[in-house]
Amino acid sequence: MKATQQLKDEHQGIIIVFRILEKICDKLKSDGILNTEHFEGILEFFKVFVDKCHHGKEEDLLFPAMEEVGIPRQGPIGVMLSEHVMGRKFVKAISEAYSEYKAGNASASAGLIDHAKGYISLMLTHIDKEDNVLYPMGDSRFSKEKQEELYEGFEKIEIERIGIGKHEEFHGLIDKLSKIYL
Ligand SMILES: [Fe+2]
Ligand SMILES: [Fe+2]
Repeated sequence: MKATQQLKDEHQGIIIVFRILEKICDKLKSDGILNTEHFEGILEFFKVFVDKCHHGKEEDLLFPAMEEVGIPRQGPIGVMLSEHVMGRKFVKAISEAYSEYKAGNASASAGLIDHAKGYISLMLTHIDKEDNVLYPMGDSRFSKEKQEELYEGFEKIEIERIGIGKHEEFHGLIDKLSKIYL
């Protein structure tokens, strides 16, 4: 399997979690109800799986490999990096609004929903650009050996940053929440 295919597959998992989060936000907006266990699971998924693991694979291995084959950093790679920074800010803002909400400030739910929707919208266009523009640019220039080397590096990042047990736990979370919300 091409290394970029692994990242595309991860995007599909991330998109499912966004669809679940949209339903959770709709429920919060209409009934004022938020299942804290489900929400905390999603927040952890964003911080650990999306940022540490998926963005880690892109920032530490894929983007440098793309630069090596002549794709300039001042261009699509730079745009992707700045969107990762924006994504982190959104997740921080969602976490802060959630802490306020949990502390009893029900009005914090409006900010929480806004930040969640902003994050989803940013990331959906980000994923679309990576799948359809950036990754194909890399794929057209990487040798078979480079794809294999990247794939092995991705596996290593996954084990080091989230661990096999945690990875399975996230799969379980997505399955469980999909059955409830989708
Ligand atoms: Fe990315
Ligand atoms: Fe990505």
